[in-house]
Amino acid sequence: MATTRKPASQATSDTAEPKAAKKTTTMKTASTTKATAAASEKKTTPAATAAAAKKTTAASAKSATAKETKTASKATEAASTTATKKAVAPKTGAKTAAKSASTPKATKAAPAPARTAKATKTAAKKPAAKKVSAAAAKKQKEADDKLFAERLARHHDELRWLYMELYDNGDMFAELCDQMKRFFDERSAKLKALDAEREAAGAWYRSSDMLGMQMYIDNFAGTIKGVEENLDYIERCHVNYIHLMPFLDTPSDKSRSDGGYAVKDFRRVNPELGTMEDLAELADKCHDRGISLCMDFVMNHTSEDHEWARRARAGEGEYMSRYFFVKDQGIIDRYTRDVPQVFPATAPGHFTYLPELDQCVMTQFYPYQWDLNYRNPRVFNEMMYNFLFLANQGMDIIRIDAVPYIWKQLGTNCRNLKQVHTIVRMMRMIGEIVCPGIVLLGEVVMAPVEVVPYFGTVEKPECHMLYNVTTMATTWHTVATRDVRLLRQQLDAVYGLPHEYTFLNYLRCHDDIGWGLDYDSLEQWGMYEVPHKKFLNDYFCGLTPGSVSRGELYNADPVTGDARFCATTASMCGIEAAGFEGDEAAMVTAIRKDIMLHAYVFTQSGLPIIYSGDEVGQVNDYTYKDDPEKVEDSRYIHRGKFDWDLTRAIEQPGTVQQRIFDALSELEEIRRTEPVFSADAEVYTKDYSDLSILWIVRRAGGEELHAVFNFSDDAKTIWMPEAGTYTDLVSGAVSDIETVDMPSWSFVWMLKK
Ligand code: GLC
Repeated sequence: MATTRKPASQATSDTAEPKAAKKTTTMKTASTTKATAAASEKKTTPAATAAAAKKTTAASAKSATAKETKTASKATEAASTTATKKAVAPKTGAKTAAKSASTPKATKAAPAPARTAKATKTAAKKPAAKKVSAAAAKKQKEADDKLFAERLARHHDELRWLYMELYDNGDMFAELCDQMKRFFDERSAKLKALDAEREAAGAWYRSSDMLGMQMYIDNFAGTIKGVEENLDYIERCHVNYIHLMPFLDTPSDKSRSDGGYAVKDFRRVNPELGTMEDLAELADKCHDRGISLCMDFVMNHTSEDHEWARRARAGEGEYMSRYFFVKDQGIIDRYTRDVPQVFPATAPGHFTYLPELDQCVMTQFYPYQWDLNYRNPRVFNEMMYNFLFLANQGMDIIRIDAVPYIWKQLGTNCRNLKQVHTIVRMMRMIGEIVCPGIVLLGEVVMAPVEVVPYFGTVEKPECHMLYNVTTMATTWHTVATRDVRLLRQQLDAVYGLPHEYTFLNYLRCHDDIGWGLDYDSLEQWGMYEVPHKKFLNDYFCGLTPGSVSRGELYNADPVTGDARFCATTASMCGIEAAGFEGDEAAMVTAIRKDIMLHAYVFTQSGLPIIYSGDEVGQVNDYTYKDDPEKVEDSRYIHRGKFDWDLTRAIEQPGTVQQRIFDALSELEEIRRTEPVFSADAEVYTKDYSDLSILWIVRRAGGEELHAVFNFSDDAKTIWMPEAGTYTDLVSGAVSDIETVDMPSWSFVWMLKK
């Protein structure tokens, strides 16, 4: 039995993969038409590929060997029909009016309310009307086809080059082109209009009027419908970008779902949260309000419950080749030696033994998250179809989760390999061909030198946006040390990058804080990695005398002594401790620190993100300890249920919530309206003689903003660079000043015209 059940076992070992993967996919596509093969033989022109793709549309849709493709096609058809039916011109929330030719004005104007159903029916029967609409539809189709052909032509050569370099498989490339056209055809008119609007506007996500919020659907409002019902609150927070934490189908047992990052089905919403139709409807409602939606695209792995994994576990070679199966302990040992561990304490090791197969499968994250094998072009193609399917539901920003890990190569550390960049570049081009309005947000939690290459180059871009993870960790280091030197250095490095490189700036997200700092620099100042990490963890856990922070360690590694940290912004700023102790003076300082840190985030160019609950100072939630499915994962300390009572407290003057919420609102308003916050402003830090003072200057349109932050427990008097008239953007006061008095943990935004 063992031998017959493991046909692909050799195929999936690291050494034999490429050949086997190719063989498998050739086998899979053997049934696609001759036209596809012809397209791959002609190889050179986009027109040839497009023409072949056109011919093969029907055939390859029929042949669709992968069940996902079939299901997808049905689901997409259904979704796009609904979307088309509802199509209206998008609200011009984002300044530019939707002028796209593809917006079917007639659709919007058609259902005149006074008409009876009968009358409508009769009218529809009129041959003239029918003729006009058929002609209009034909014209629209021609315009759409032309648009697609132009976009494909723009990217074809590079896309084909990269694809062939990685996979050397013309059939699969032709299939990819074919499917891109299919997803383009299925994209609703409304989304196509939004694409056109965004293409015309340029990098729409860089605008300084953007403000994001990251939230768990269940914690915030129970279900997707619940989120829709609470869009007024989101707008009240000035938020026009919502990152909905993973909502695709995942095992209901929370100890096997990694907060939704173990995806069971990329085409189905977790039924506890709603349906794909709810999602598309939410996206539609959001677009009407000028709000965009971000979702996670978990590319690196699937849940062990995903159909591919189930079939692989059952010994189906074709599905086994979509993952990494290894039997040879020597190979496992080499990976263990060369590849750092992601979860050293909660999920040590890189492989999980499957007794059914008497083999191990690669699981770099949790044992129930199986790493996908991107050496297999079937995996790449299918994942791209999933990406396009989700984009067609109205998703605007696709957060590519754990992207540095997606290519594995024995003998390397399996991080940030050049093939990862090839894949991201291809994904960018695929997006620009099918749905150019969408944005790729890379989750690259790596050293700074590894992060920036994910932008690609200005000519050959990869991600549109990246997390500013090092700045985030360095900010908290600065809070603990009251020493801004490293932060200045980090910010200057960011400010020196091309303006096109857009960062997502944040204080807290759903994950732990890993202390990935520049230790070479810190050493010059007497801070060494191991003791410094311990210092930071002790400080934020509230163990250091004088620390007001509260929180917990995450993945403390008993071998290296390394650990990361979890807590909410409010708890790290001292709001939890001050509240618990009923210490109003401490609360005043804690709130000031919280607001100052937000002001500092808003001072940066790029997209600021608020973690849901931070706008009302929500503190740590310790109830996860009572839940056996969550207790092992301390990240749940900052993934508590959103406390709606806190939002009611906003109405009462003097509450913690009112003080934070109103202050943030004011800062958001200033950021949105003052031209000096423009994404194209020149930004730099200023050398100031006090180690606790961070001084950032923004210059745009002849104006100069001096944003000064006091990272210390002491009040400070700062000297302005030149005496003159400054406008305090927060109080509105205009005065001739030479110095400014700053309480501990406070900031000023001084504008000089
Ligand atoms: C990302 C997510 C994290 C998750 C991991 C595995 O890093 O942010 O929450 O555990 O990917 O998917």
